[in-house]
Amino acid sequence: MNKMSKYFKALGLITLLMSTGSAWAQAGEPSTAGKVEFYIVMGFVFATALVVLAVSVVVLKLLRLMVKLQARKEAEAKGEVYVEPVKKSWWSRFLTEANDAVPVEKEETIMLDHNYDGIRELDNHLPPWWKWLFYISIAFSVVYMAVYHVFGTMPLQLEEYQAEVAIAEEVALARKADAPASNINEENVERVTDQALLDNGREVFISNCAPCHKEDGAGGIGPNLTDNYWIHGGDIKSIFKTIKQGVPEKGMISWEPLLSPDEMQNVASFIMDLVGTNPPNAKGPQGDLYEQDSEGGEEPAPADSVKTVEASLE
Ligand code: HEC
Repeated sequence: MNKMSKYFKALGLITLLMSTGSAWAQAGEPSTAGKVEFYIVMGFVFATALVVLAVSVVVLKLLRLMVKLQARKEAEAKGEVYVEPVKKSWWSRFLTEANDAVPVEKEETIMLDHNYDGIRELDNHLPPWWKWLFYISIAFSVVYMAVYHVFGTMPLQLEEYQAEVAIAEEVALARKADAPASNINEENVERVTDQALLDNGREVFISNCAPCHKEDGAGGIGPNLTDNYWIHGGDIKSIFKTIKQGVPEKGMISWEPLLSPDEMQNVASFIMDLVGTNPPNAKGPQGDLYEQDSEGGEEPAPADSVKTVEASLE
């Protein structure tokens, strides 16, 4: 019965956790705040559990020590020499228990009596570790089912995705609302020289583009942006257009949904300033040579004239 009451207690705790969880889920809207609270409380519960565990271990050790001392006292009172019992490590005890295999010498006791042309069979039971995993997975599936499909405490993948998209849309809208109305596009974009704007361009570049183009523009997954070779044209309009539309089939997304037109103009100008900086370990040239300072060189190179120039830098 004692065992039963333990199970009920555990069950009660689980239900409690799940119901409080759903209360949170209802309280918070597409809430990041509710989530944070949830994690704080969970962290607190976890930390408390750890402390309780540590204290129990210490108490257990103390109890063991007391038992040992008592045994020694009793032995001494009887005039015997106290011999400490041989202690196996918890790990080896665990292994023995988890495998619970019949030792080779005793295999005869579990031999089945049929015999197929000399092939005989042992009546081994399932190893306990296997059974434990099986029971744990059953328990997990019940909790999973309850949490995700019965109580709806946690969002399903699709809901999670939709919530994230909704938040991202809100953020994007808020940022667009903050940004001054701008009608910069690939037709009227101009190279900016104002230091504040270029600094903004650098910020945009470092946080969005550096993973593929390197912080100094030397190129990595994406091409080197510091040489005079361009796959999609090296004038401000072409660069702006490449950033805005991306080259999705080559792995660069369209940045239009993520960056404001001003930011794209700034980062495009920042990139143009990178040309000629000769950073170390730069990627070899790709695309066509573009004379940046030539008169009337503003015509964008046709995008389909993609060819890789194998010549090395310099
Ligand atoms: C996931 C990797 C990745 C990220 C992030 C990325 N790019 Fe690219 N980028 C590429 C690849 C790959 C190409 C080459 C496309 C091709 O081969 O046509 C490219 C090409 C370009 C080009 C054209 C280069 C040329 O030779 O014509 C420009 C300009 C550019 N990226 C700017 C940016 C800017 C600005 C950002 C950040 C806002 C950025 N990229 C972020 C991968 C990336």
